[in-house]
Amino acid sequence: MAGKIPEETIQQIKQSLDIAEVIGDYVQLKKQGRNYFGLCPFHGENSPSFSVSPDKQIYHCFGCGAGGNIFTFITEMENVSFQEAVSKLADRAGVSVDIQIPGERPDRAVSKEEDRMLEAHELLTKFYHHLLVNTKEGQEALQYLQERGFTKNEVETFQIGWSLPQWNFTTTFLQKRGFSVEELERAGLIIQKEEDSYFDRFRGRIMFPLHDDKGKVVAFSGRALHEEKPKYLNSPETAIFNKSRLLYNFHRARSAIRKQHGAILFEGFADVIAAASAGIEAGIATMGTSLTDAHIQQIKRITDQVIICYDGDSAGIQAAYRASEMLSESGCHVKVAMIPDKMDPDDYIKKHGAEKFRDNIIGTALTLMAFKMEYFKQGKNLQDEGQKLAYIEEVLKEIAKLQKAVERDYYLRQIADQFSLSLDALKQQEKQVFFKERKKQPVNRESLTLPAAIPQTTQKLYPAYQTAERRLIAHMLKDVDTAYKVKELMGSEAFNIDEHQAIFTYLLGFYEEENEPDSSIFINFLPDANLRRLVSDIEMMMVSEYVNDEEVHDYIKEIFKYRKKLVIKTKKQQQIAAEKAKDYQTAAQLAMEIVKLKKELKV
Ligand code: GTP
Ligand code: MN
Repeated sequence: MAGKIPEETIQQIKQSLDIAEVIGDYVQLKKQGRNYFGLCPFHGENSPSFSVSPDKQIYHCFGCGAGGNIFTFITEMENVSFQEAVSKLADRAGVSVDIQIPGERPDRAVSKEEDRMLEAHELLTKFYHHLLVNTKEGQEALQYLQERGFTKNEVETFQIGWSLPQWNFTTTFLQKRGFSVEELERAGLIIQKEEDSYFDRFRGRIMFPLHDDKGKVVAFSGRALHEEKPKYLNSPETAIFNKSRLLYNFHRARSAIRKQHGAILFEGFADVIAAASAGIEAGIATMGTSLTDAHIQQIKRITDQVIICYDGDSAGIQAAYRASEMLSESGCHVKVAMIPDKMDPDDYIKKHGAEKFRDNIIGTALTLMAFKMEYFKQGKNLQDEGQKLAYIEEVLKEIAKLQKAVERDYYLRQIADQFSLSLDALKQQEKQVFFKERKKQPVNRESLTLPAAIPQTTQKLYPAYQTAERRLIAHMLKDVDTAYKVKELMGSEAFNIDEHQAIFTYLLGFYEEENEPDSSIFINFLPDANLRRLVSDIEMMMVSEYVNDEEVHDYIKEIFKYRKKLVIKTKKQQQIAAEKAKDYQTAAQLAMEIVKLKKELKV
C-alpha cells in the first residue's frame, strides 16, 4: 500500500503532526486523561464514543468500530486515496513529497468523465455570468436582481448568471468547445428530445451555480424571471450532483462556521445570499429538499451548533421542527430563529434591514425548548381549557427530556407563570411524565446528567479465547520478541478468529522487514479497512507495558482450549450420527476420544 512513498517520509509526516490537532479540524475533541474524546464523524451519535490517542497516534470509535491512523482518517474523511491523504498531510507538516496523484486512481475512467462535467460547469458559470453582467440580453435579469436587493457584490460572489432564452445556445456553446451531446446530457445540462436532437435545459433563467464542498460547480438552479413554472429549475442528479447531500454555500461558509462555532441553516438559497449581504457569512441551505442525514453528517464535520432560520409560514415552522429534531438527535445544539409575519429571511432583510435581522432574528434565536413551546401552540386555542391542558402535557413531555435540572426548572417556571399554575404541582406532574416515558424507553436521568464527555468505553465482554487472542495481539504490537515467542508457541496452529490470524501474519511480515513496533505505522500495511479497525480497537485496550512468559502461555492455552472444545463438539456430532447409523464400534471409539480430550482440557 505504502509502496511508492518512502517509509521515512511517512514517519516524518507522522512525527511532525499531532493527530489530535489534525482530527480536531473535523471533530470537536475534549481531553480526558491521556486521550481525547468526541462525537464520531463516521456515524451519527449523541454521546461521544470516538477516541484519539496521541501516545499511540491512532483513533478508534467504540460505537461503529472505525479506527486507524492520521492517514486512514484523512482517506475516509475526505474520501481520497492513500497517496492523496499523504500528500495533504505532507503539505500540512511542511514535509516535501513527490507524489503524482492524478492518473493513479483505478477509477480513472469514471473520474475523467466527472472532470469533464466539472469543466463544462465551470465554463458555463463564467459564460452565464458574463451574459448577465456585460450584455444587453442580461439587462432585464440584472435589473430584477438589483430590485430584489442583490448588489453587484453578491452577483459577483455567488457567480450569478443568465441563460439566454434560446433552445440551443448552451448545446452549441459547449459543442464548440469539444463536448459531445452525450456527455452534456449525462451532465444534466441538455435534454434529449429525439434521437440526434437535443435542447438546453436552462433557457431564459437566472442561473445560480451550485458548488460542492470543495468549491466546484456541480449543478445549477435557474430561477424564472417572471411567473413561469417551475419557479426554480434544478439540474437533475448526476455523477457529480447529489441533491440530498449538497448544501448551498457550504464551501464558502466553512471558515465562518468554524470561526463563529456555528452554522445558520436556511430554507432557500436566496436567503443565504440575502443573509450574506447582511453580513452573515455562515449561512447554508438545502436545495429545496428537506434536511437529510447526509446533510447533517456534512455539517457535523465542522460544527455541532446550528441555528435554523426557516420561513415564518406554517410550512416553514413545521419544517424547522423536523430539522431541529433531526439535528438534536444527531447531537447538535440547535437554536431556531423565528421570523414574524410569515416572511422569509430574504423578505425580512429587505423590509427591516440587516441590523434588525442580525439583532432581532439571529441574535434572539430561541433555544430548542423555547421553540418547541412555540411550535406546540400551532393550531391550538389556548383559551380553550382542554386544548390548554393538552398543550401543557405536550410541553411537559419535552421538559422531562431535558438533561439539566436547572433547565427543567427554568421552563417549568415559565409555564407556571404563563398559565398561573402552581410550580410545585407542575414539578410533580413533570416527574410523573418522566417516569411514564422512561418505562416506554429506558433512559436513566443519572446517566444523562453526566458530563457530556464521558466516553462509552466500557470494554465489551468477549469469550475467554477471544480476549486471550486480543491481548496477545496487543502485546505483540508492542514488542517484537513477544511476537516471535507467540509464533513459536503457536506452531502450526492458528488463531481461532480469522481476522486475528490475518493480523498476526501481517505483523510477523512487518517485523521481518525490520520495522520497529509502531501500530499506527503498521496500520498502513494492512490492506483491509476491517483489519485496520480491529487493530485500532485492540490498541485502545489497556494492557500492561510488559508481558511475562507465564501470561503468554496462559493466553495460548486459552486459545488451544477453545480449539479442543470445537474438536470435541464435532466428535460429539459424529458420535450421534454413528449411533443413528447403528455403527456402534465407531461410536464407542469416538466416545473414548472425547473422554481423553476432555481430560486434557482439565490439565
Ligand atoms: P424567491 O421566490 O426567489 O425569493 O425564492 P425563495 O428562496 O423565497 O423560495 P421558496 O421559499 O419558495 O423556496 C425555498 C427553496 O425551495 C428554494 O431556494 C429552492 O431551492 C426550492 N424551490 C422553490 N421553488 C421551487 C421549484 O419550483 N422547483 C424546485 N425544484 N425547487 C424549488
Ligand atoms: Mn423569498
